[in-house]
Amino acid sequence: MPQGSVVVLAAGRGTRMRSALPKVVHRACGRTLLGWVLEGARSLNPERVVLVLGSDAEAVQAALEADGELRHFSGALGQGTGPTLEVVIQEPQLGTGHALQIAAPALTGTSGAVTVLYGDMPLLRPESLQALVAGRPAGGASMSVARVADPSGYGRVLRSESGAVQAVVEHRDASPDQLAIDEINVGLYSLPAELVDDHLARLSSDNAPGELYLTDLVGTLVADGVALEAVELEDLGEAQGVNTLAQLSSARAELQERLLLQHMAAGVRIEDPATTYIDHDVEIGADTVVLPCTVLRAGVRIGTGCEVGPFTHLRTGSVLEDGAAVGNFTELKQARLGKGTKAKHLSYLGNVEVGADANIGAGTIVANYDGKHKHATTIADRAFIGSGSILIAPCAVGEGALVGAGAVVKRNSKVPAGEAWVGVPARALVRRADADSDAS
Ligand code: UD1
Ligand code: CA
Repeated sequence: MPQGSVVVLAAGRGTRMRSALPKVVHRACGRTLLGWVLEGARSLNPERVVLVLGSDAEAVQAALEADGELRHFSGALGQGTGPTLEVVIQEPQLGTGHALQIAAPALTGTSGAVTVLYGDMPLLRPESLQALVAGRPAGGASMSVARVADPSGYGRVLRSESGAVQAVVEHRDASPDQLAIDEINVGLYSLPAELVDDHLARLSSDNAPGELYLTDLVGTLVADGVALEAVELEDLGEAQGVNTLAQLSSARAELQERLLLQHMAAGVRIEDPATTYIDHDVEIGADTVVLPCTVLRAGVRIGTGCEVGPFTHLRTGSVLEDGAAVGNFTELKQARLGKGTKAKHLSYLGNVEVGADANIGAGTIVANYDGKHKHATTIADRAFIGSGSILIAPCAVGEGALVGAGAVVKRNSKVPAGEAWVGVPARALVRRADADSDAS
């Protein structure tokens, strides 16, 4: 049964990114940072997720909607089943503690624990979130900590001589002695819902930037004698938040490695992981081979026994059925290739449905865009498109038809099944009756 609530703090302006785009909608492996964090939030099976956004809330919500992330939530904003999703606006942004103050009214009526996450931590694994929640003592709180080689920028964990956690001090407020501490606050907390209001009311902005720090809650909980468990993060890499574009690129690399390992574990042969870019939400069947320098975007579906690459870009909406092969500077967008179909050299195929066992010759271009609209093209089973052909959409090539090398098939043309068309613009060379006698 769903239990408790999760608050995701994502209102900060993210100035260190030096970007006009809100920080949490920067993407890593085809998904926004916030999308990764919301997946973690859902893995806790909460009743409710409260998302704190700032002045760019509309842009953030639009990005979540465009990615289909809202389908995993219910409630006013959600578009499916799952926990309810509620957005609250923090404007101006006066610190992480202030952000939780803004979220608190949306928590009334929830039972159990409140888990607080930051929206800029895409590397936290569901298992680590679950360990944090499981580690919370009855009636008490838990927080995630880690010992890292370079604690710079993080809040440091202060412990008493007996080793009990006492407080968190932010990097910018820390003394030289405190800066030497290598144990950091990961930025992941779980506490009883009924303690939230009281402890938030006690926050003060008496610190270097004059903000309300969520991390000061650690000190007030301890001062009140609330049991606090510091749960060690097993994989230190997960603690990496994204504050800069350099950190975004290292987070992307880590997420990419995880995705590639998942595909390899499922029977996909990836010849060179270092030059293979596979977004989240890509399905690949077993015994498919992915050759170097290949980019597969979110939403791509690839069957079993296919060959993809080298140097191939499959964009959103591309589907390869079992045994299809694409490679050597070929780009697909909203294109479906049927079983056993091949497009192995220098092609662009956009908004195309290709049947089974067709051959798309080297350098075939489907001109799907007339400057205003995208148009669809169909190429039926066993069609043969000669090298260097241009198919101007919308058009259709029938079953077993042949388009001769270098042909330009004009817009609205239908090459009938079994015919052969050649030339610029393409015209019938072999009419249907001849085609039939050819075949016999
Ligand atoms: C925070 C912690 C620090 C911890 C680190 C882990 C505080 C005060 N510090 O520092 O102890 O080691 O994360 O990565 O919490 N946000 C809001 N409203 C605000 C300010 C921030 O929603 O007014 C959001 C941001 O969008 C971001 C998250 O809170 O997603 C964390 O804020 P950020 O400024 O990145 O905190 P850090 O300096 O990284
Ligand atoms: Ca951060």
